[in-house]
Amino acid sequence: MKAKVYITRRLPDRIIEKLEDQFEIRMWKEENVPVPREVLEREVTEIDGLFCLLTESIDKSLLDKAKNLKIVSNMAVGYNNIDIEAASQRGIMVTNTPGVLTETTADLTFALLLATARRIVESSDYLRGGKWETWSPMQLTGQDINGATLGIIGLGRIGEAVAKRAKGFDMNVLYYNRARKYEAEETLGITYYDFDDLLKESDFICIMTPYSPETKNLIDRDQLSKMKNNAILINTARGGIVNEEALYEALKSGRIWGAGLDVFVEEPVSLEHPLLTLPNVVALPHIGSASIKTRLRMAELAADNLIDALNNEIPKYLVNTGLVVSKEN
Ligand code: DGY
Repeated sequence: MKAKVYITRRLPDRIIEKLEDQFEIRMWKEENVPVPREVLEREVTEIDGLFCLLTESIDKSLLDKAKNLKIVSNMAVGYNNIDIEAASQRGIMVTNTPGVLTETTADLTFALLLATARRIVESSDYLRGGKWETWSPMQLTGQDINGATLGIIGLGRIGEAVAKRAKGFDMNVLYYNRARKYEAEETLGITYYDFDDLLKESDFICIMTPYSPETKNLIDRDQLSKMKNNAILINTARGGIVNEEALYEALKSGRIWGAGLDVFVEEPVSLEHPLLTLPNVVALPHIGSASIKTRLRMAELAADNLIDALNNEIPKYLVNTGLVVSKEN
């Protein structure tokens, strides 16, 4: 009998076909509407594998309903939407899709940095809104990127890829990471700073760290108060790493200069959100990895993880690796 798999959003045909070859597939067929919780709760009861997105909360109460579930394959590198401990306790593997989205996410991070510093969105709106009546010396002036100091918080794969781009713009690159990375310092020509000093010295601060209880509100009032007046904060990681209320106050009062945000605490962000009222915020709908090539690769990788797990092999990108070790012992 074929193993049963539920897919929580419409996937490209070639990925569905690949999974259909081996499994009995059911899928939430909408593209722009997430699977309702009650549907997911119903579907999860019988399945062996779950292919899900970061929009689904895979928590204890959902996992309790899953009698046969062996794998939760998340089509994202981040997995803060999944209760890893609860999955591990139930012997359920959790996988993610690192690597394939590194360069694409770094591109978007840099695009957001450029757009925020040079007021690209505001300038475009200015033109289209019929406000462009003449050229004038200080009209729509922004911040220079070349020669500025960039502070990267979290030097993982994406952080390193952002550093590489920054070097091409002649930026001075600082980083903070839990563990120092001597080789990256050497190869990329970047400098380790402790957290507070990085906040004080940087013109641009890019948040590139995973979201966890330790990084929740990592950037709060106190941290914002240490930044330069001309500082620009870029967040393409997870919304919860920044206290949005504190960020709003810092931007509104001119404590810092601008912010480029691809992620929010609640997604999709409400159009009533105070941050969206500010002209010095460039806001995007979580599109860090959204290139055609990369999203296809992510889907492919998530499918491969699922296939491996349901064929009793260790998936390449297993998050709860301890599970396999304890199963083998
Ligand atoms: C991820 O993979 O975690 C991104 O946020 C979406 O690509």
